[in-house]
Amino acid sequence: MTVYTIALIGFGGVNRALTELIATKNQLWERDLGFRLNIVAVSDLFLGSVISPNGLDAKMLVETNFAKGGFGQLSGGSAEADNETIIKTAPADIVVEATFTNPIDGEAAVSHCRWALQTGKHVVTTNKGPVAIAARELKALAKANGVHFEYEGSVMSGTPVIRMAEKTLAGAELKGFEGILNGTSNFVLGRMEGGLDFAAAVKEAQQLGYAEADPTADVEGFDVRLKVVILANELLGADLKPGDVICKGISGLSAADIEKAAKANSRWKLIGSAVRGADGRVTGSVSPRQLPLDHPLAGVNGATNAVSLNTELLGSVTITGPGAGRIETAYALLSDIVAIHNTHVSVATREAA
Ligand SMILES: NC(=O)c1ccc[n+]([C@@H]2O[C@H](COP(=O)([O-])OP(=O)(O)OC[C@H]3O[C@@H](n4cnc5c(N)ncnc54)[C@H](OP(=O)(O)O)[C@@H]3O)[C@@H](O)[C@H]2O)c1
Repeated sequence: MTVYTIALIGFGGVNRALTELIATKNQLWERDLGFRLNIVAVSDLFLGSVISPNGLDAKMLVETNFAKGGFGQLSGGSAEADNETIIKTAPADIVVEATFTNPIDGEAAVSHCRWALQTGKHVVTTNKGPVAIAARELKALAKANGVHFEYEGSVMSGTPVIRMAEKTLAGAELKGFEGILNGTSNFVLGRMEGGLDFAAAVKEAQQLGYAEADPTADVEGFDVRLKVVILANELLGADLKPGDVICKGISGLSAADIEKAAKANSRWKLIGSAVRGADGRVTGSVSPRQLPLDHPLAGVNGATNAVSLNTELLGSVTITGPGAGRIETAYALLSDIVAIHNTHVSVATREAA
């Protein structure tokens, strides 16, 4: 039986959800996936850090109400989050990076990923920052060290847009994509169709927990811009930086715009897209677009996300699903670990043949 030891960096919503899954599903994974996960280290700004080579009890980690610096009370623990020591020295096969997204330079997460890859550990992450800013460097580092850098959850949470485009649609010749990549702004547009003005719709999204106290990154398109960069670079082989992607959000749309669109049998959606031009250059953009009701993305409502992949051989293929959520995003981390496991299993099978 394969056991992967893992170090969790950040212990907020997503990594806690992964720990809950480990506490309840390890046996099932052992039977169905061929491996189990053992948490040997955790580091979090608020809680501190802990290394336990034999493994930490996942149930204890999620059920204990730790105070600030609380990991200091555990054997092998410290009240400080010493990420560098944890990442470099913990006996972990895989580092699970789920800290804060920094859209400017990707730090501190870029360093977390670098330290892990340099010391021969796989990295799985849901953090858009290091992927949008430094994927090229981190993928090269992973290759040089014979490990994986996987980030399915950075774009559509557990909905497998990256793996579907790369693996299942391999050979279909992707020419571009367009998607609804931010559930908050999509929810706000839906409520505006229901008669609310922009400010009231944002307030409702905040009350329901869909929008942050500062909704700027969601409604001005900055979150979508990072996702467009990730998808364009990964799927279309581009080398875009966030500043290369034209970005306009939905805050300029008025109730009159929404009404006018409805009268024309269409509706506004915030669309993130990228396309390869005739000269081979890839351009990306984020902007509100008025879509006819029969467009595949027009019926995507509420906090749901969707991406239409435009392929040469198959036409347009649309994938729809959750774009956020603790468990949904933890599932993305599991799917990255499954991908790592399956690569190793097929290498071992080839070598044995
Ligand atoms: N939740 C989702 O639905 C979702 C979906 C897709 C992608 N993601 C991405 O996944 C990542 C994690 O999301 P989340 O919802 O779990 O966020 P979260 O609840 O805010 O958790 C992040 C945790 O990381 C800690 N942290 C921040 N910087 C750190 C550092 N330098 N070193 C150690 N710990 C650090 C935070 O501590 P403090 O609270 O003390 O700062 C917090 O406990 C984010 O990058 C997010 O954008 C989330």
